[in-house]
Amino acid sequence: MRVPFIAGNWKMNMTVAEAVTFVNEVKDGLDAVSGMESAFCVPAIALPSVAAALSRSSVFVGAQNMANNESGAYTGEISPVMIKPFADYVILGHSERREYYGETDALVNEKAKLALAHSIKPIIACGESLAQNQAGETQAFVSGQIRAALDGISTADMLKIVIAYEPIWAIGTGLSATVEQAGGIIKTAVRDTLADLYGNDVAQQIRIQYGGSVKPHNIADYMSHPDIDGALVGGASLKPDFVELVANGVTA
Ligand code: PGA
Repeated sequence: MRVPFIAGNWKMNMTVAEAVTFVNEVKDGLDAVSGMESAFCVPAIALPSVAAALSRSSVFVGAQNMANNESGAYTGEISPVMIKPFADYVILGHSERREYYGETDALVNEKAKLALAHSIKPIIACGESLAQNQAGETQAFVSGQIRAALDGISTADMLKIVIAYEPIWAIGTGLSATVEQAGGIIKTAVRDTLADLYGNDVAQQIRIQYGGSVKPHNIADYMSHPDIDGALVGGASLKPDFVELVANGVTA
């Protein structure tokens, strides 16, 4: 039985003060939802304050990125050792990291292994561009991203990983993928690839989120697909009705 999981990805939004005010406003509402795990993946500078504000809450805390080293001469980077006291999860390989900061599959793989070594659970993001989608390359591309990101990761570690499938053309655009599109790729490009790598038993235990313009009004549709186990939510996680979104995601 996979416990569904909806994670908010705030991206580069909210000051520390705004972050604390916001989580204090929504935490009771989120705690009242049963049958769904939720998390906020917040800017690194807000991790200590948000973790403190959520210390008595069931809502998990995540980072949005981390360095591929533990310490040293890496100006501007933040290491897994630094985020560990505050973060349960870390998003790795988000398409914005890949596009604007040149993150490769190999780097995502390195970071995933390091996060796991520090008991931080990776949310590994994958997804194709509009051009790849239109060229019919989605299946091969996403499956390739998954294989590369998971290279050398043991079954025991795999069981701690969450995969987020986010078609790039659906992120922040209001152009959400249809349930059939998203569920189809999640099944054939993600879960079947996991089954190929780790066996079907393991693949059936891995949580796979959909991401891309998920809102309170469409989450239930996604959750109705048997292979979609939650969502990675950008814009809609910055608003108080994120509580409604999470509640609407609970399937009967
Ligand atoms: P969005 O972002 O919900 O604003 O489309 C999703 C994401 O990038 O994780």
